[in-house]
Amino acid sequence: MNSAEKQLAILLEFGKVINKTKSLDDVLESMANFARDILQADRCSIFIYDKNKDELWSKVAHEVHPIRITAKRGLAGYAALSKETQIVVDAYNDYRFNREVDKATGYLTHTILSVPLLDNQENTIGVFQALNKKQGIFTNVDAELLLLISNYAASAIENAILYDKLRDTQTKIINKLASAAEFKDQETSKHTKRVGLYSALLAEKYGLSQEDIAKIELAAPMHDAGKIGIADKILLKPDKLSKNEFEMMKTHTQLGHDLLFDEENEYLKAAALIALEHHEKWDGTGYPHGKKGEEISIFGRIVAIADVFDALISVRPYKEPWSFEKAHTLLNENSGTHFDPALIALFNENIEKIRTIYQELKD
Ligand code: C2E
Ligand code: SIN
Ligand code: SIN
Ligand code: SIN
Ligand code: FE
Ligand code: FE
Repeated sequence: MNSAEKQLAILLEFGKVINKTKSLDDVLESMANFARDILQADRCSIFIYDKNKDELWSKVAHEVHPIRITAKRGLAGYAALSKETQIVVDAYNDYRFNREVDKATGYLTHTILSVPLLDNQENTIGVFQALNKKQGIFTNVDAELLLLISNYAASAIENAILYDKLRDTQTKIINKLASAAEFKDQETSKHTKRVGLYSALLAEKYGLSQEDIAKIELAAPMHDAGKIGIADKILLKPDKLSKNEFEMMKTHTQLGHDLLFDEENEYLKAAALIALEHHEKWDGTGYPHGKKGEEISIFGRIVAIADVFDALISVRPYKEPWSFEKAHTLLNENSGTHFDPALIALFNENIEKIRTIYQELKD
């Protein structure tokens, strides 16, 4: 292939790769493989630049374990800091070369081509490096080809970083919402965390997908978010609630649902469903809708158990904490009436794991 043909091949190849695969690791790995073939190199690595530590860590490296290296030395470091392509024809006679890397990996480097990965603002986000051209040395045409491939790698990395930030922000906002209800109530953040963890455990044992397990762990802590809409004189009442007060209290389910629901966001949708359903009962005597059996989503059925169990062993304005054993007994007494009996069976089978969560996150 001549250089123009190679460039066309690159364009076509990445059209396919980017459409087909989703994970950043997969995309970068196929870029590294492709670069190795096109450049006739022995190995290719893609490093991500960590600005805070001034380090490069290898995201993809053929036949080498992931490594972290300083960006202050070595060819990859040079490419990162100068933002310019570096070509080396004889590594051990080049002052820029960092021999420590070969020492650590047991590899013998002869020729190197290092290309910086730049984001939209021309900031370095990593380095794409090819080692040991099979015949001869890396040429300027090779450098141009690797630069072209690198543009794709850089935008794939940039998208992944943006996506991570977005997810991180989402998680933080969701956790803050959960604690908004804690401020008003006497519930602690440990309570909401425990409810998340018991729920995730039950979800796993029930056989839900990894995605649903992650969803319930994040969403279950928000089950009482609607309590921020309940007056303090009810919420913090040290005695039993009157009939009217309890009717008001029951609205925290619908309030929470309406507060959390978002058509576009799977986590918030799950959280809204859980807020709505966590006081429904298996026999249809719960609230707000009196749903029965599997009319209640598996998320709602799971969190009902986790919430009552944890409410019992926690202190409340209106009650002292119960012992672990007494709370466990109450769940079993209400299996098939309040709670889904299949889930109570799973709870019993995994009682030691439940106890571990309880002990590690004691109030
Ligand atoms: P919560 O304190 O988070 O309690 C959640 C659920 O745990 C309760 O839902 C109930 O099913 C169970 N639970 C909690 N403590 C006990 C208990 O001492 N005995 C038994 N058998 N079950 C218990 P429920 O009943 O629908 O209550 C919803 C929320 O209403 C409670 O959330 C709490 O904020 C409030 N609430 C319920 N009863 C009273 C009360 O007598 N006084 C006050 N001040 N608030 C209450
Ligand atoms: C370097 O960047 O100098 C190290 C090259 C290698 O990865 O062996
Ligand atoms: C959900 O409602 O999102 C959980 C799935 C189920 O109810 O089985
Ligand atoms: C308690 O023992 O503290 C209350 C018993 C109950 O409500 O079932
Ligand atoms: Fe509740
Ligand atoms: Fe709760």
